Amino acid sequence: ALVSMTEMLNKAKEEQYAVGQFNINNLEWTQAILEACQEENSPVILGVSEGATSYMGGFKTVVNIVEGLLEDMEITIPVAIHLDHGSSIESCKEAIDAGYTSVMIDASHHPFEENVEVTKEVVDYAHANGVSVEAELGIVGGQEDGVEGEVKYADPEECKKLVEKTGIDALAPALGSVHGPYQGEPDLGFEEMLEIKETAGLPLVLHGGTGIPTEDIKKAIDRGTSKINVNTDFQQAWTKVVRELLKEDKEVYDPRKIIGPGKKGIIEAAKRKIEIFGSANKA
Ligand code: G3H
Ligand code: ZN
Repeated sequence: ALVSMTEMLNKAKEEQYAVGQFNINNLEWTQAILEACQEENSPVILGVSEGATSYMGGFKTVVNIVEGLLEDMEITIPVAIHLDHGSSIESCKEAIDAGYTSVMIDASHHPFEENVEVTKEVVDYAHANGVSVEAELGIVGGQEDGVEGEVKYADPEECKKLVEKTGIDALAPALGSVHGPYQGEPDLGFEEMLEIKETAGLPLVLHGGTGIPTEDIKKAIDRGTSKINVNTDFQQAWTKVVRELLKEDKEVYDPRKIIGPGKKGIIEAAKRKIEIFGSANKA
């Protein structure tokens, strides 16, 4: 069923596992992620960035694709459609009006007071519509919606204030994680994470879930992380299958026989993440 992420994440926080935000790019991606999560009986947050939303056709198209699949695939696990890195109040409202059940407002590049103001306005609108909200503090490294960011750690004191002043449902404190592949080993701020867990008291989100060693994932879950975002890992898994296939078969031209087989890569990768995150049989 289509739900917000509030209940999923509160349960995950209580029982010490993480729900995956698995990003989608098209119809096949959505099928693959839903299939993997249904088979593992795991809740899932379908992450859709603004770029992926317009690539797929727009907010309404995304909602219709997901709703159609939930019915046709007989999906019974809890599923949230989540706007990933929403860049403005308007964009969050548009997503909510179209039927997204969760949004992230990413005002972390603004001065703190402005981040609070913008986030609060999104929370008021979202909560009136039964939609959950994630906000961010600090800067995740690598490409964030086309903007190359250098890592900036979130300040635990600001985290506490942001949560109190806005009533958000989940917080993504940037603590050294990076979007896309890591250059070397990630250096995550686990001490700050623990401090934020204790002072802010709500489910924490870890962005840049691709390439973080299993051991660090477990540590993050121990320190209050209840949602982990993964995108690049699935893109790499899909591309690996399709690249191999096209190398071996020079005659194939039916798109279903090219795009389709890549789903297997995504399904396997998603199942591996679910296993590490501990969300199997938590639906
Ligand atoms: O918001 C999306 C994620 O943070 C994805 O990061 O592409 O490094 O897995 P990733
Ligand atoms: Zn992210």
